[in-house]
Amino acid sequence: MTTGALQSRKILLIVGGGIAAYKALELVRLIRKAGGEVQAVLTKAGAEFVTPLSLAALTGHPVRQTLFMPDDETAMGHIELSRWADLIVVAPATAGLIAKAANGLADDLASTTLIATDKKTLLAPAMNVRMWLHPAVQANVARLKGFEGFHGMALVGPDEGEMACGEFGPGRMAEPAAILQSIIDLLIAPAPSGAERPLTGRKAVVTAGPTFEAIDPVRGLTNRSSGKQGYAIASALAALGAQVTLVSGPTGLAVPVGVTRVDVESALDMKAATEAALSSGHASGHGPADIAVLSAAVADWRVDTIAGGKIKKGPGGPPTLALIENPDILAGVAAPGPMRPALVIGFAAETTDLEANARAKLSRKGCDWIVGNDVSDDVFGSDGNAVLLVTREGTESWPRQPKSAIAGALAARIADHFKPHSGIDGKA
Ligand code: C5P
Repeated sequence: MTTGALQSRKILLIVGGGIAAYKALELVRLIRKAGGEVQAVLTKAGAEFVTPLSLAALTGHPVRQTLFMPDDETAMGHIELSRWADLIVVAPATAGLIAKAANGLADDLASTTLIATDKKTLLAPAMNVRMWLHPAVQANVARLKGFEGFHGMALVGPDEGEMACGEFGPGRMAEPAAILQSIIDLLIAPAPSGAERPLTGRKAVVTAGPTFEAIDPVRGLTNRSSGKQGYAIASALAALGAQVTLVSGPTGLAVPVGVTRVDVESALDMKAATEAALSSGHASGHGPADIAVLSAAVADWRVDTIAGGKIKKGPGGPPTLALIENPDILAGVAAPGPMRPALVIGFAAETTDLEANARAKLSRKGCDWIVGNDVSDDVFGSDGNAVLLVTREGTESWPRQPKSAIAGALAARIADHFKPHSGIDGKA
């Protein structure tokens, strides 16, 4: 099952000149997989890095390269093109394109389109770290951000890391899946109509990320969970109108649009924050949340006694850590009682017998659905995922797709579950 998170949405992608332009091709693929339509504008410098042919093949549309092409202008002029789009995405956004956008300099198709549009624009900067940190570029970025109240200029990235030029620092273009997520956030989250926001009035609590169990003030036990899947679910639920609290272990991720985040460190903190979020501020003024999606990778054990000071190396050899079991947050939330949400969803990260283990977990934990994923594959930290949705009625296999797409599909299923016709707790 694939999802249509961007179904019928139109994206105008401006591809600037930079080594990151090759990632624009993957971005086109992801947008189309999510149901969106893409037309591309390729700058002169962009064409040095990717060919118009590859962009045309992937978008399924002719690629626009110059401002004055009689054929193109009669088919769809640059003004019309910018009106056609629901969102303009600039990826990679070079220092030059940022400068033009920030100063209203319109001397080619890309920059003219940026000034002509009445739609939001998302820029994914990509440049050498020294260029990104240059005060002129930072001033232009600040200027762009100041336009937010206008049609809206939003930025995604840049990421920090090793650059094509061998240097290290901020300047790498955000990964295509992260850009896709920002597109979904920008286009879907503000959807105004009740029909598009079927979870309006519903309260959801999502846990995500790893927990960190301190050993002493400087060391701890943790795991490789990135939190990306849980964050994407929180974002997708908010986009459908739910009031979402995200209880998050330590991650480097930004708070998704429309979501309230509570930061925690240990499993005990996460349990307390989850229970508090489940019981407080219910839309109807009392009672539990409607939806709990507990995707966090909670550490199974913590050290019995956290050392007050840093444990020193010494002649006695390494210390022995006595571990005790952490409480199972999911089992507690799913236990019958007045505070149980109508729909409790757990996760099962397995390396073998995924379906059998996920189904066993469903009954052991008492939750309604389990999202199972095979973590022997490249899942931790990655932007893609393939899952099984295990319910009491059966099992569905969702093929590998961006985590944002899995999240969109899950949120849609949750919304469907709460539709009046669909049975369990189908509140109107
Ligand atoms: O038992 P296991 O860790 O495999 O179960 C995974 C599911 O249980 C996830 O949904 C996870 O968030 C939840 N869990 C929990 N508290 C724990 C351990 C796991 O909520 N202590």
